[in-house]
Amino acid sequence: MKEKLEQLKNEARDALGGANTAPALESLRIKYLGKKGEITAILKQMGSLSAEERPIVGQLANKIREDIECAISEKATELETAALLERLVSEAIDVTIPGKLCSVGRRHPTNIVLDEVKDIFIGMGFEIAEGPEVELSVYDFDKLNIPTTHPAREWTDTFYITEDESVHLRCQTSPVQVRVMEKQRPPIRIISPGRVYRKDEVDASHSPMFHQIEGLVIDKGVTMGDLKGTLNLVVSKLYGENTKTRFRPHHFPFTEPSCEVDVQCVVCGGNGCRTCKQSGWLELLGAGVVHPKVLAGCGIDPDEYSGFAFGIGLDRMTMLRFGIDDLRLLFENDLRFLTQF
Ligand code: DAH
Repeated sequence: MKEKLEQLKNEARDALGGANTAPALESLRIKYLGKKGEITAILKQMGSLSAEERPIVGQLANKIREDIECAISEKATELETAALLERLVSEAIDVTIPGKLCSVGRRHPTNIVLDEVKDIFIGMGFEIAEGPEVELSVYDFDKLNIPTTHPAREWTDTFYITEDESVHLRCQTSPVQVRVMEKQRPPIRIISPGRVYRKDEVDASHSPMFHQIEGLVIDKGVTMGDLKGTLNLVVSKLYGENTKTRFRPHHFPFTEPSCEVDVQCVVCGGNGCRTCKQSGWLELLGAGVVHPKVLAGCGIDPDEYSGFAFGIGLDRMTMLRFGIDDLRLLFENDLRFLTQF
């Protein structure tokens, strides 16, 4: 029995030497030390030994069990260390390699100016309203008192969506006025920025898609004076305290009286230059006192309420703000241009 135990010890030592993985090691542990393992099998036969031999063999068996346990745990540590080393080598990160440069985006100049304008109006108690870009002609034309003969209704000017001319890409943000007045009772104070579409050829000052900011104020006793005061404040905040404005009479079907507002040329200070075509002034927006017909059409009594409206050309406003002389730069997305802001 002693020989058997010694033999087992040698056999186990050789087998452990060849075990190179954790599962292999585990199956050796079960094979030698497990409940149904080889040492247990030998110990079970102890009954056949004499009383003198039994403790000697028992001691030897325990010693061999301990030796094998010890060898297994040593081997396990060895395997773990080897695995860790291998991972450290294969997953090594060279922290000295320079990182990939990720370029941070920035706001488009049009959005910079839009945010400035929004801040100014929100500061005066205005809210931001939104309307659809695919608009009903009823909202973009009829309810704005635009006659059926108006050139803006021509297929050559407007992007119609339906054959019957009832739906088109809005050619101004003014229909948002109607949508707001139909839903909301006065007092109303909103601006509504957004895209508008016209069949224009692209050149330095035209694009088939551009941006407007609509404005609408309706309350009791609102006058042209309020319109002037509001717009002058916006211009002075955007372009500086001493920037002069000029209100020229004009015609829009949805306002009466109507005007166009010019600012003193920011390039030459009003002396006359190429940008302002020697006039000293640059056109910025259309405005006026909301036509009684438009109010009545939206269910607002024109005898009780009055208001003013305006439509700012946001792209033009941006060009004046930064001294940009070609509208196309705002739409071409050339990073050499955009990264300057
Ligand atoms: N919608 C006009 C345009 O695109 C601009 C405009 C003029 C808007 C007068 C208004 C306004 O609200 O009252 O030319």
